[in-house]
Amino acid sequence: IARFVTLNSGFKMPTLGFGTFMLKGEKLKEVLDYALFLGYRHIDTAASYENEEEIGQVLSDRVNAGRLNRKDIFITTKVPRTHLKKADVIESAQSSLAKLKTSYVDMLLVHHPWGFIKKENNEMQFEHVDLLETWQGFSTLFKSQKAHSIGVSNFTLEQIDSILKFSDVPPANVQLECHAYFLQNKLKAFCDEHHIAVSAYAPLGAPNRPAPHVQNNENLLEDPLIKEIAKSYKKTPAQVLLNFLLCRGFVVLPKSANKDRIKENLDVLNWTMTTKDYDKIASLDKGIRFFRFLFMRGHPDFFEEEDF
Ligand code: A2P
Repeated sequence: IARFVTLNSGFKMPTLGFGTFMLKGEKLKEVLDYALFLGYRHIDTAASYENEEEIGQVLSDRVNAGRLNRKDIFITTKVPRTHLKKADVIESAQSSLAKLKTSYVDMLLVHHPWGFIKKENNEMQFEHVDLLETWQGFSTLFKSQKAHSIGVSNFTLEQIDSILKFSDVPPANVQLECHAYFLQNKLKAFCDEHHIAVSAYAPLGAPNRPAPHVQNNENLLEDPLIKEIAKSYKKTPAQVLLNFLLCRGFVVLPKSANKDRIKENLDVLNWTMTTKDYDKIASLDKGIRFFRFLFMRGHPDFFEEEDF
């Protein structure tokens, strides 16, 4: 299994990342330090996770103590939907750099393609923003190397295509929900064709998401086929699901706040399943999306039925 993918920007991205959504404060510091100790070298965060300061502190402590080189760490962060206009993109990125205590991020993503304005009373309001303007801000940051690579998240194929047609800087990475029940075949093939790396969030099927977000209460970790294959390799269902996505050419971003599971999720690079088992898992795709963004209903740029 490849440990890195070479991006269209020329930089290398580790294929296994540490997801940090919902992790904050002392707990995050403790588990991130442990993840770095184990060997994780790719950290996925976002301005909206409100945890960049903790991440910056853990990383700079390690770098200052001579226990880590900045260049060996790959940091991904994201610009939130309240900051999609060009000047706001730049402001958000500067703020992320300051919190992360670094002069560049390895990957900067547009978090979602749906614009928002925050009103004075702090209420959020839907707003159409021209994503090509957003991308101009990103290109500026790329050209000044504040972001070594730039990309998008939760974009549809058409939205990605419009950026490719418009800009001299193609997205290097697309991050989206992807797991054995939702393989994103069309988007993946499109991204392969355009040399865009695809990162899978919720690679385990987001098992702890609250029920309203889950269709049919499906639980990927409990799938009988996954359990059977896991048993035959003496691996866990989570390891099988991650190994499967890596075999398929995805970058995977599992997240865990539990040290045993953080360790477990790292043991997915040194082995590979047979083609037969891979094909069996590939047949599980049921088009089940766990992150459905139903609160975006009514936004002019939100198409519920589209793959993104
Ligand atoms: P926990 O933090 O208690 O480990 P996803 O990455 O698909 O969104 O899933 C994240 C969720 O999966 C987290 O709530 C996490 O809970 C749980 N999780 C992470 N790794 C494993 C694992 N190896 N086995 C079972 N559950 C896991």
